[in-house]
Amino acid sequence: MKILVTGGAGFIGSNFIHYITKQHADWKVINLDKLTYAGNLENLKGFKESPSYRFIKGDITDRVQVDSLLRDGVDIVINFAAESHVDRSIQDSSPFIDTNIKGTQVLLEGIRKNQVKKYVQVSTDEVYGSLEIGKSAENASLLPNSPYAASKTSADLLCRAYWKTYGLPVMITRCSNNYGPFQFPEKLIPLVITNALEGKDIPVYGDGMNVREWIYVEDHCRALECVILKGSPGEIYNVGSNIEKTNLDIVRFILKELDKSESLIKYVTDRPGHDRRYALDASKIERELGWKAAISFKEGMKKTVQWYIDNKDWWQRIKSGEYTGYYDRMYVGR
Ligand code: NAD
Ligand code: DAU
Repeated sequence: MKILVTGGAGFIGSNFIHYITKQHADWKVINLDKLTYAGNLENLKGFKESPSYRFIKGDITDRVQVDSLLRDGVDIVINFAAESHVDRSIQDSSPFIDTNIKGTQVLLEGIRKNQVKKYVQVSTDEVYGSLEIGKSAENASLLPNSPYAASKTSADLLCRAYWKTYGLPVMITRCSNNYGPFQFPEKLIPLVITNALEGKDIPVYGDGMNVREWIYVEDHCRALECVILKGSPGEIYNVGSNIEKTNLDIVRFILKELDKSESLIKYVTDRPGHDRRYALDASKIERELGWKAAISFKEGMKKTVQWYIDNKDWWQRIKSGEYTGYYDRMYVGR
């Protein structure tokens, strides 16, 4: 089996490559990644170029490059490549439109022309928008609120159209908030852990009572494997953990774990259009494919906090700008 992983140098993509190569030693993995500020080959240290793993620096919006890769023969494409940070999409939505929408369209066109058995679009619970009560099932209305969420929703709709119009073997997964090793320290959990370790302020948006459903990244990777192996073309699968926490719950857990004072918490101006709560009904993937999140919040968080303690070099190089030179431009002083 030959699998093209796009965005494999990012947080979830690199965790997926670690996971899938352990589970399927006979699979050939091609990792196509543009290496934006969020892409980091240090996430894949130890993976040597070999007949079963190849890294290609490239862009999913590059039709010629995508076509030539697919023409070589690929069985499965899984698309992680994206601009993924909501705050950045509020500052400038352009790269979100290019990569998340146009990039998906280029991949779909490439698949239309070449023989690919399965395409998995890694999407998000943010497409359903904010929920006061209840949970979003796969047939809930799509009500994205940020430019990021709108770009991911547009990509989902393109995937659906390519399935309906051309019968492309497309499957969409919509997962809740991930956390774990290799997450770029602009996102809440790694930002809080690394700032706390450095004794810096912890910026909490608004009243800190926004709710997210948190899933350990390896549970997500296992769900993606399950969809690749057992999913049906044309289907959408929510991937959730049922673990709902307020942002303050998260911050307090981390500060307690690190034995740091809550005086580090600083309430700051809220994110514009900040979604109050996401919550997924993941009963379809549990019922139809037999997947269920397995890692408890306490276990996942303890592992994650420990990983950031053990891998200071990794995040200090990012935060200092040494690795990408990018971080400080947006996060100076945070
Ligand atoms: P990330 O920002 O950590 O990684 C994105 C990766 O995509 C980087 O390696 C980057 O270099 C690469 N990339 C960006 N533009 C590209 C392009 N034009 N061509 C090729 N590569 C490009 O993101 P992540 O958190 O790992 O998210 C991965 C996917 O999962 C995204 O599609 C995201 O929408 C989705 N998702 C994320 C979460 C989450 O909690 N992080 C939850 C649900 C779904
Ligand atoms: O729900 C899935 C989504 O989760 C993914 O699709 C996105 O790619 C991913 O970035 C994530 O989006 P969020 O906006 O939920 O994640 P983020 O870590 O940016 O923020 C989580 C919550 O914490 C949110 O309510 C905003 C808040 N927050 C975030 C930061 C960075 C703070 O209060 N302070 C902060 O400094």
